[in-house]
Amino acid sequence: MDQKHDHANQILSLLENNESINSLQISQTTGVNHQELVGYLLQLEAANYIITEGLKKDQLVLTEEGNTILNSQSGEYEIYQKLPEGGISMADLQKQFGIEQAPKQKQEQGEKKEKQAEDPKKKLFDLGFGNAKKMGYIKMDKGIISKVANDLPDKIKQELQQFNEIKLGSPQAKLLIERKLASISTIKYFEVKKGVKYSPKFREQFAALTTEQLLNGEWKDCDYKSINLNAEGEKISMGNLHPLLKVRKQFSQILIGLGFEEMATNQFVESSFWNFDALFQPQKHPARDAHDTFFCSDPELSEEVDTQLRDKVKSMHQTGGVGSIGYQYEWSHEEARKNILRTHTTAVSSKMLYRIAQQYKEKGYFPKKYFSIDKVFRNETLDATHLAEFHQIEGVVIDKNASLGQLMGIIREFFRQIGINKLWFKPTYNPYTEPSMEIYGYHPILKKKVEIGNSGVFRPEMLAPLGIPEDVNVIAWGLGLERPTMIYYDIRDIRTMVGPEVKVETVRSNAFCVFESK
Ligand code: PHE
Repeated sequence: MDQKHDHANQILSLLENNESINSLQISQTTGVNHQELVGYLLQLEAANYIITEGLKKDQLVLTEEGNTILNSQSGEYEIYQKLPEGGISMADLQKQFGIEQAPKQKQEQGEKKEKQAEDPKKKLFDLGFGNAKKMGYIKMDKGIISKVANDLPDKIKQELQQFNEIKLGSPQAKLLIERKLASISTIKYFEVKKGVKYSPKFREQFAALTTEQLLNGEWKDCDYKSINLNAEGEKISMGNLHPLLKVRKQFSQILIGLGFEEMATNQFVESSFWNFDALFQPQKHPARDAHDTFFCSDPELSEEVDTQLRDKVKSMHQTGGVGSIGYQYEWSHEEARKNILRTHTTAVSSKMLYRIAQQYKEKGYFPKKYFSIDKVFRNETLDATHLAEFHQIEGVVIDKNASLGQLMGIIREFFRQIGINKLWFKPTYNPYTEPSMEIYGYHPILKKKVEIGNSGVFRPEMLAPLGIPEDVNVIAWGLGLERPTMIYYDIRDIRTMVGPEVKVETVRSNAFCVFESK
């Protein structure tokens, strides 16, 4: 830190009497290596003490060989120096340079000859020898090599000692480049001028104003770093919506847009009565078996429903009415009171229909559109496409004019809004609807028809005991929430959507759910 300050102050004082100064000059006068200096300059610029302008120029620089000569001597001079008074033979001179003389017969063998030519010592010697002759250091007379004169200087070394004065493009520069002692390189440097906060002495910049500085008055002489208003804030860790919730939200918005009102679904434990009996589902129906339905043990039985309603449902099951003969069996009151985890959202719809019928008694008939989205439970074996708890979306339309055609129209519009245009309806059986239709849609990834829902017109055997007038029709449809969510978010295993298998990071980064209607 102190050294950093010293350098900063050196730079600043150099600027005191200069309009501008370049970083190469600064490096030369301060002795700070240029690369290190650039670091100091950038810091001073960030503190607004200076402003810099980037520049480039070509410069003559010493090569490694040039540097070696500068630090010792040139090759030709080394040869010159080794020559004794009176001269020496080539073989003896080479010996002094550690060059082995190959025996004559071996030299004739092509392979060895080649090897000798590759000897780097020999190569260097030949180069130096050639130069020594060219530079007029040595002469050769009848096989004897001797000095031309005594006490000659090492001219190349001398030239290199004056290297800083050699101008790019001068004959000297050309010679050095030719001899590979120097080369041209582009260097980047800076023109440095005073900045708005220039002062010949660097003052430390504080990141924050402290209570201490305020109390002892130090703040008056302190410099503070400016705040970077463009800095990005830290990512906030916050709650994120689960993919199921995103799709659920979108579905409810579509239904609200179509004029449907949401029903309360906050009751997971329901009596068998509302889940099955009120839906004209016989008590011996296989779906009411413990293999398919979760029964509650505490409390095992639910509270009594209105006895009038109970009796109407009972007689519809036992003997029928509204043109039906019923199921012809002994209906058990106790069986209907058994508490279960609701197996479908139609349990919510049946209860709501009873409430509407009660209101009709007071206010008279009015049409109504309802929907629900929430959890249902089934005693399923878990696998990649089945969970024991999942979600259903259900729509119900109560209207004197409601028809099968209207039901198909609403279903088409609903699916159109989530981008599914190709629909097929297939007749099916439900205890509580007649006619009943399975809904199939085209799966864009699997490229085939897949079942996406179930629907129908509620049977008079179901509606009459609840008190819905005979001339009022009720149409309804239901579908699962998990399947479209898996398709939309490309989730392959339904089990990764719940509990500890959920990848929090994926939930965080998942896109908002926006189905595109076409
Ligand atoms: N309850 C049916 C199911 O669980 C769906 C459905 C709802 C069918 C309303 C017809 C009418 O699959």
